[in-house]
Amino acid sequence: MIKVAVLGYGTVGSGVVEVIQDNNSLISAGLDDSIEVRYILDLREFPGDKNESLVVHDVNVIMDDPEIDVVCETMGGAGAAYEFTKAALKKGKSVCTSNKELVEKYGPELIELARENGCNYLFEASVGGGIPIIRPMNTSLAPEHIDSIKGILNGTTNYMLTKMSESGVGYDDVLKDAQELGYAERNPEADVEGHDAGRKIAILASLMTGKTVRYEDIYIEGITKIEAVDFAFADRLGRSIKLIASAEDKDGSISAMVAPRMLSKDHPLSVVSDVFNAIYVTGNMLGDVMFYGKGAGKLATASAVVSDVIELARAAKDKVTLPCVWSKEPVKLADRSDVRARFFVRIATGDADRLKYALGKAQRIADIDGQTGFVTDEMTEREFLNAIKDMDVRTIRFD
Ligand code: HSE
Repeated sequence: MIKVAVLGYGTVGSGVVEVIQDNNSLISAGLDDSIEVRYILDLREFPGDKNESLVVHDVNVIMDDPEIDVVCETMGGAGAAYEFTKAALKKGKSVCTSNKELVEKYGPELIELARENGCNYLFEASVGGGIPIIRPMNTSLAPEHIDSIKGILNGTTNYMLTKMSESGVGYDDVLKDAQELGYAERNPEADVEGHDAGRKIAILASLMTGKTVRYEDIYIEGITKIEAVDFAFADRLGRSIKLIASAEDKDGSISAMVAPRMLSKDHPLSVVSDVFNAIYVTGNMLGDVMFYGKGAGKLATASAVVSDVIELARAAKDKVTLPCVWSKEPVKLADRSDVRARFFVRIATGDADRLKYALGKAQRIADIDGQTGFVTDEMTEREFLNAIKDMDVRTIRFD
């Protein structure tokens, strides 16, 4: 019998308990052992909840119980969650988590601590919710040199961009609609400013390089400046606008970024709509592969956590260390100014000639609602920023 403790009985934590209990016979059959939630740690009481009797308020009850093999940390944040994770690993209890903030900040340290104590630290649910991506990166894609990762890693912003594109509605109205539907938080900053996607691509870029790509070093641009007219231009160009988190390895020069992009409608990411996420990975031998699914939500995310529980239970039985190459060595990212790209750029039509002159080779697309849109040839970001300096323009990267 594998005994599990769940830290935090919120949306994901309660989902983890539900998945383990509802799919118990199936999970047990696959494991050839049974699995049981023994404790749920939370500060709150849950009167009337069917798992009320499992709730404890003192984490030491869990840490001091030698029968607990696996701890699921679904508390979030990098405070108590960090302390509890370290305490569990030091006791030889394997930990799995959905907590991207903790993984991004302390991933290599916690992996190493787990190894020192003969257990494992897994984090499948920290990126892409229910989409399997961390385990494939560590196993199925292990023979590959990963050339690039491009992902739609945030459901809230993908929902908003999809609605803006379909309905022609502006940013503020779409945000209000997303908040009413529960897809966006009351304080939407982490999602709409791109920080959530930034933490997730930092984790994936670290696994891509085997070293540490720090979230703080990644250039992050959210969706708050995207307006309805941008979708009119995108439509004219046969393109979709998506918030893309990307990481690239060009002959050892690593770049990473989160920014809106106008994607060709031929690109598989361009048709990923609503709250769905997708991760498009290019390996040097495999070529392109895309992972698609629900990037958030109670049961989808919980399912990914429970997939880790199963993996941890198997590893504990066989006393094995699971593969994950992620060292503390920091990666120095390439200077974004040197990266070559194409840009969509628009300006008030009265100033269009001045912009055309400054850009040199650029294709004039159309005049829409008093704005004139251009698409540049490939140029470095430094050249582009020099060309548009002192001009009141809006730009979106053009892939
Ligand atoms: N706010 C996140 C999203 C939740 O919208 O994707 C999952 O990390």
